[in-house]
Amino acid sequence: MRIGVLGAGAIGGFVGGCLLAGRADVIFVGRQARGTVWQQDGLRLTDLDGRDDVIGPERIAYCDTVSSLRGCDVVLVAVKSGQTADAAASLSPVLAAGTPVLSLQNGIENTATLKRVLPSAKVLRGMVPFNVTMPGPAHLHRATEGEIVVEDDPAMVSIAPFFRAGGLPLQLRHDMEAVQWAKLLMNLNNAVNALSGLPLRQQLGMRGFRRCLALSQREALSLLVAEGRVRPARLTPLPPSWLPTVLDLPDGLFRMLASRMLKIDETARSSMADDLAAGRFPEVDWINGELVALAAKLGRSAPVNARLCALVKEAAAHGLKPWQPAALLEELERVARPLAQRTGGHAVEVGDDRGGS
Ligand SMILES: NC(=O)c1ccc[n+]([C@@H]2O[C@H](COP(=O)([O-])OP(=O)(O)OC[C@H]3O[C@@H](n4cnc5c(N)ncnc54)[C@H](OP(=O)(O)O)[C@@H]3O)[C@@H](O)[C@H]2O)c1
Repeated sequence: MRIGVLGAGAIGGFVGGCLLAGRADVIFVGRQARGTVWQQDGLRLTDLDGRDDVIGPERIAYCDTVSSLRGCDVVLVAVKSGQTADAAASLSPVLAAGTPVLSLQNGIENTATLKRVLPSAKVLRGMVPFNVTMPGPAHLHRATEGEIVVEDDPAMVSIAPFFRAGGLPLQLRHDMEAVQWAKLLMNLNNAVNALSGLPLRQQLGMRGFRRCLALSQREALSLLVAEGRVRPARLTPLPPSWLPTVLDLPDGLFRMLASRMLKIDETARSSMADDLAAGRFPEVDWINGELVALAAKLGRSAPVNARLCALVKEAAAHGLKPWQPAALLEELERVARPLAQRTGGHAVEVGDDRGGS
């Protein structure tokens, strides 16, 4: 089986690298500069549980053109959400009909985009729960824990063993939309983390920032209840609806109850923080923005998530001025307050409640 990886970045590199370590035949498609380093130095894969594998440069097949994925039996998509449509369009003339295309991306919309642009492919939803960092140009590190979840489909019968051989246990599930929404609830922290300018563990250790995340999650949960179509899956020991309450707890209690959530390497940051640092357009429209879109569909508003979108985009455009927890919380509580309270009872045009800029 030949496995193609479209998007040789943090996730594509780590997952593809693990598959290679498990002796799969993998070809990476990514930017040439990265390929040059990997094909010169090899690829080192480490994790917080002590994994330390080095894959020799001679084993790394890497190309910067999508056409090299011709003939692959499965393609893993690991580009950022904003790049999905273009990446899929270049994959379209290359892919044989019925080829499984497994999205390992965050957000809800990527598989719909892939299905639209690749109507003859077998698009499968995947969810990667862990964070991957790049301590060096040829070194990828899994900085948190969790098992990859993939849509339970007959195509996975021949693909899953390669994941297991590579030390990536898989859960196969039928409720992938619920799984993706549960992951999106966790990913709402990406924006808070990016705005904090801090490593994840330090940021999540601060109650003010956790309360920002709790506000954003409460808004999400209330919209999902209002829509009534999908209930986020339970991916953690606590049900998703309890998460905001736990996040609100004082630091000591939170550390006791949510120690697993804090099992993060000290230097790890969210991939949205990495986007800001690298000057890339952040994925925020596909995460917090998904709630703004859902609110609009329901004739409601999502002021907290709209404000987080606006703040992250502002930081991307003009540079990040890291927020203090109390200031960010005050800003989000301000936009979350009903409009009448914010204006002291003065009449304000309806529909002006998004708080975005
Ligand atoms: N990083 C994490 O810890 C993590 C964890 C779970 C899920 N995810 C999700 O996984 C997805 C990928 O995230 P990531 O952090 O791995 O992204 P990433 O590090 O930016 O990797 C994507 C790579 O693909 C390259 N690329 C994009 N389009 C391409 C094309 N058409 N041809 C060749 N190369 C192309 C990008 O290059 P340029 O940057 O030059 O465009 C980038 O190097 C996202 O949806 C993210 O939310 C990430």
